[in-house]
Amino acid sequence: MLGLNTKKIGRKIVYFKKIDSTNEYAKRIAAHEEEGTIIVADVQETGYGRKFRTWASPQGGLWMSVILKPNTTPEHMTKLVFLGALAVVETLEQLGIEGKIKWPNDVLVNEKKICGILVEGSFSEKEVYYIILGIGMNVNNSLPQELVSTSTSLREVLGVEIPIIEVFKILVERLEHWYREFLAEKDALILQKWREKAILRREVKIITEDKTLTGKALDIDEFGALILELEDGKREKILYGDVSLRFK
Ligand code: ATP
Ligand code: BTN
Repeated sequence: MLGLNTKKIGRKIVYFKKIDSTNEYAKRIAAHEEEGTIIVADVQETGYGRKFRTWASPQGGLWMSVILKPNTTPEHMTKLVFLGALAVVETLEQLGIEGKIKWPNDVLVNEKKICGILVEGSFSEKEVYYIILGIGMNVNNSLPQELVSTSTSLREVLGVEIPIIEVFKILVERLEHWYREFLAEKDALILQKWREKAILRREVKIITEDKTLTGKALDIDEFGALILELEDGKREKILYGDVSLRFK
């Protein structure tokens, strides 16, 4: 019915009009579910982002989670955030929009957040049991007043509503492409492509629970840690985790 030409991602799609969170639902079923299954919902009542921050998920947006079971180790998980961001940026490109990746997990258009990516997983030190790749994209939805100055949607950027199913189909196809590259261990390619689409060489402020660092975001290393050049010229690696990045 959708005419998806992917082999893995989207072989099975579970749709809800309303759900708590597609990531939460995916976690509940992941252990017994095949790889590639997508959970998608029109509305999430308790959608969340990193650090369980509330993610506004009203009707009109694309709220989805993909169950993945790569044969890999936990240190490679950050790359799945990156391939999600790449797939989103390429989806935007196909719609004639330039998106930029803000490390670690946001996609911006005109410096405003249009999409957030949340990767959660179940793993031991040596093995990944499953990964949930959650993507929330503002498509035709309105945004709560407090987010209007920092966020945007496809409708706002294009000036017209766009069939959400078209956005979904392109995104699923781009996700399959980059997931295959990930499985083929084309890490260098993923990271290189990511660099081309990311906002780098900008002055930033990194906020962690116990300190704030300022400096220039130079690059990412092979595991996706941000390389920050501090004001005194020293370099520090910042891991994806409980940090926030702000442009200065
Ligand atoms: P960080 O730099 O820490 O990533 P962030 O503001 O991007 O900061 P995240 O945890 O990545 O924080 O994302 C959650 C935040 O996204 C929320 O705190 C809220 O400000 C914002 N947000 C919530 N819903 C939406 C939405 N639908 N579109 C855009 N932004 C949203
Ligand atoms: C972030 O910017 O912190 C990430 C936001 C991720 C939101 C998506 S929407 C689909 C999936 N379900 C959730 O509850 N969260 C993710």
